[in-house]
Amino acid sequence: MTNSANQSQKPVTTVINSEGNIEIGGCDLVKLAEKYGTPLYVIDEKTLRSICADYKKAFEKYPKTNIMYASKALCTSAISSILASEGLGFDTVSGGEIYTVNNSGANMSKVLFNGNNKSFDELNLALDLGVGRISVDNFYELALLNTIAQSKNKIVDILLRITPGIECHTHHYIQTGHLDSKFGFDLTQIDEAVELIINEYTNLKLHGLHAHIGSQIFETSIYADEIDILCREISRLDEKYAVKLDEINIGGGLGVKYTEDDVPPSTYEIGEIIVNSLNKAIEKYNIEPPAIFLEPGRSIISMCGVTLYTMGSSKQVPQGRKYVSIDGGMADNPRPSLYQAKYFAQIANKKDTNDPENVTVCGRFCESGDILIENIELPKIEEGDILCVYNTGAYNYSMASNYNRVEKPAMVLVNNGHSDLIIKRENLDDIIRFDVIPDRLKKNE
Ligand code: LLP
Repeated sequence: MTNSANQSQKPVTTVINSEGNIEIGGCDLVKLAEKYGTPLYVIDEKTLRSICADYKKAFEKYPKTNIMYASKALCTSAISSILASEGLGFDTVSGGEIYTVNNSGANMSKVLFNGNNKSFDELNLALDLGVGRISVDNFYELALLNTIAQSKNKIVDILLRITPGIECHTHHYIQTGHLDSKFGFDLTQIDEAVELIINEYTNLKLHGLHAHIGSQIFETSIYADEIDILCREISRLDEKYAVKLDEINIGGGLGVKYTEDDVPPSTYEIGEIIVNSLNKAIEKYNIEPPAIFLEPGRSIISMCGVTLYTMGSSKQVPQGRKYVSIDGGMADNPRPSLYQAKYFAQIANKKDTNDPENVTVCGRFCESGDILIENIELPKIEEGDILCVYNTGAYNYSMASNYNRVEKPAMVLVNNGHSDLIIKRENLDDIIRFDVIPDRLKKNE
């Protein structure tokens, strides 16, 4: 079956150029590091557009498919504008994401608002900016949203987020579809929610059901199970309450290739499984073909991104391992310390890998756990070398912090030899931007 860009460990434009340096999007990484400084997030536009094309092509056989990029993976105005230009919608989970997507000029009717504890202000913002669907997570939110909708004299289009009771094999922090989850209505609570919508919450219009099983998933069969459950529920609710639901949202989760050991399915493979299971379920439950929504995040943006670091100090532990330090770490990529995530890296300015040494790449933050990559073979490292860590487009910048009061890195978009700054590097003034010293403390000077 055809490959898709999520299966590639590196951006699709990655080459070694005539100077022996790694080049992405036609830009020499060493020159990018010189121009913009490090750490630096680099996003390859061609890889991003090619995975969008893969997703669209993979679902051609089911025209009622809508790809809603899960903004939590990486949400910036420029990235959102590229995805909007590719015709994607957006899954958002906060006022901040909704505001960013709106700032990118995206069509807000193609935005879904998701989350287990949306605030009054966030729901208001979503309605004011014309967000197309709210995925209601719990009874509290049903009541709150109906009140807000009434106050605005609006009918709000909603889905119900449900917990389908499916477990997948991924890190337990990123599993969500199992029964003991903080997200969504339990299967046994759906009827009560539907009855409330029919009888009391008349400012809410229910269009369908939504579920999400987990993230960095390689098993395709769980999507078939999920679709079966969602279609079964749609048919059951029609029979019991005569409610016609014509949308199912199956969430995101498709995995990517962080290391050689990761073998994610292609978009084409999951496209086929999803469309086949959908057709099967439509027949089995005798329902009208629903519109289907997918919310991929990681599999759209992860492999588009790399992070560049400058190598600094190193330490050879006597009779132990060799640590080499980078100028970033757990604040710009918390995934290794949070999920024991593994990454692959190369030295951007050294193509000669004849005499590799085994090193542990550690961050500059004040924690022993700030280790980015354990035991990797790299060419003999010298101070000033540029390390390129692959597959950092997803859940890196979006989860970055200012731990140790370190400025967050810049992000550039590369394409055809051009580079454009899309997130400015923070500076020391940004670090103290929100600090307030109360007058009474100043008086004590
Ligand atoms: N839809 C819903 C409702 C979700 O909760 C998520 C991810 C997605 C879609 C997108 O899933 P993806 O296609 O990206 O796997 N910070 C973690 C990942 C947390 C994912 C949370 N939900 C990590 O760095 O691995």
